Amino acid sequence: MTVIYPGSFDPVTYGHLDIIKRASKKFDKIIVTVLNNPSKKSMFDVKERVELLKKTTEDINNVMIDSFTGLLIDYAEEKDVSIIIKGLRAISDFEYEFQMAHTNSMLDKNIETIFLMTSNKYSFVSSSVVKEVARFNGDIKQLVPNIVEKAINEKIKEE
Ligand code: PNS
Repeated sequence: MTVIYPGSFDPVTYGHLDIIKRASKKFDKIIVTVLNNPSKKSMFDVKERVELLKKTTEDINNVMIDSFTGLLIDYAEEKDVSIIIKGLRAISDFEYEFQMAHTNSMLDKNIETIFLMTSNKYSFVSSSVVKEVARFNGDIKQLVPNIVEKAINEKIKEE
C-alpha cells in the first residue's frame, strides 16, 4: 500500500524523519510531498525543501519525494493514493489536524488520514522552533541532520 505524507517541511526535522522512517516500515511506499504555497513566507523554496528531504531520506528505499500545489485530495487522486499520513506531536496539533482530516474526507469520501504519534524524543520539535533557535545562535544539532543545520545557517547569514 502506498501512502502520502504531506507537509510544509520548511525545513525537514528529526520529527518528520521519525514519521517517515516509521511509516516506511509499515507501508510499501511513502510519497513525501511538499506543499508549494507561494502566499506563505518560508525560509526555503520548494526546490530546496525537496532537495533536503531527498538527501536526508536517501537511505530509505521506499520513500519518494515530490511537491504539489492546490488541494491535497486532488494530488492524492492524481497519484491514485487514498491514505494520508500525518504526525501528531501533542494535543495542540489535534485541533488543526482534526479540521484538515475532516475537510479532506468531506471533499473526498475515499480519503482516510492515519496519524502516527511522533516519538516522545521529538514531540516538541517543529521547523519554526528550529529556525528560531538557530537565528539566536542556539545549537540545533539534536533537532535536525547536519546538512539541514548547514542549510539553515547559510540562510540566516543571508537574512
Ligand atoms: O506541515 P504542515 O504545514 O502541517 O502541512 C499542512 C498541509 C500541507 C498538509 C496542508 O496545509 C495541505 O494539505 N494543504 C493543501 C491545501 C488543502 O488541501 N487544503 C484542504 C485541507 S485543510
